[in-house]
Amino acid sequence: MNEAQMCWWPEMSLAVVVGAGGMGMAIARRLGQQHRLLLTDVNGERLEMVAATLRDEGLSVTTVVCDITDVQSVAGLATAVAAQGPLRVLAHVAGLSPSMAGWQQIMKVNLIGPRLVADALLPLAQAGTAAIFIASLAAHVMPVSEKVQAVLADPLAPNFIERLVEAHGEELTPTLSYVFSKNELVRICQRDAWAWGQRKARIVSLSPGLIATPMGALEFKNQPAKFDMLAKTPLARQGGMLEIADAVEFLASDRASFISGIDLLVDGGLNAASRHPQSSQ
Ligand SMILES: NC(=O)c1ccc[n+]([C@@H]2O[C@H](COP(=O)([O-])OP(=O)(O)OC[C@H]3O[C@@H](n4cnc5c(N)ncnc54)[C@H](O)[C@@H]3O)[C@@H](O)[C@H]2O)c1
Repeated sequence: MNEAQMCWWPEMSLAVVVGAGGMGMAIARRLGQQHRLLLTDVNGERLEMVAATLRDEGLSVTTVVCDITDVQSVAGLATAVAAQGPLRVLAHVAGLSPSMAGWQQIMKVNLIGPRLVADALLPLAQAGTAAIFIASLAAHVMPVSEKVQAVLADPLAPNFIERLVEAHGEELTPTLSYVFSKNELVRICQRDAWAWGQRKARIVSLSPGLIATPMGALEFKNQPAKFDMLAKTPLARQGGMLEIADAVEFLASDRASFISGIDLLVDGGLNAASRHPQSSQ
């Protein structure tokens, strides 16, 4: 690093990016233009590879290996954030798609994980902090019964998984687990807006549609129905990771300073077209 960069970094506030996969790396690269980065992932090897790449590009990156489904691990992340703050941005990107795990693990990573991270980092939020949680278009594809919603609303409760099976009436499939977990993540960001607002901080979710990432490619391979979704997307293509990074950058910035408690769909119009099918012809 040259001297100018060494002087520049300490002045920058901190952006925490949870999840160093395809989208996480694109988001970190973008946020790293204006922030010091604290990057975290459960996969230490992947984490260090991404961090090394971003450092080679001149960005300031520290890393913490963290399993977001583990309370102690998330507490360790919060300690690292407190030491390196002030916390300006939290971009929570980590998640598992239906092809990646069984339904219980998907529920843990996609719902218990964000719940633990939001709870652990809220005390570090201050005026101007923005938290962005990556949900999914899947959050919007079907209604979730009130009975199931009531269980999803408290994912840290004892016997959460058993209560969920009872409320739903049977074991979930991985796809249903993905839909339920992302649906509840959107609601978390709505409900938590009050608590974050008390600190003059913001929390939102962002729901990507079909995005060209390794995860997206895996789902195209395993779920042929995604080709129908692509055909119904008004913009007639997948989105790119940089288009998600652009939206995250905006939501994280002061230009979005009155935006909280919302879900931003970045889906090329697919959700709208599925609600108004005649307009997709
Ligand atoms: N790619 C798409 O088309 C698409 C569409 C809608 C939503 N999304 C969402 O976008 C997010 C990122 O997707 P991506 O394409 O970058 O996926 P990805 O698989 O490339 O990255 C996900 C990262 O999460 C990490 N992770 C998994 N379990 C973890 C845990 N317990 N603790 C900490 N980290 C963990 C993985 O190691 C991985 O690096 C996910 O939440 C996904 O649901 C993706």
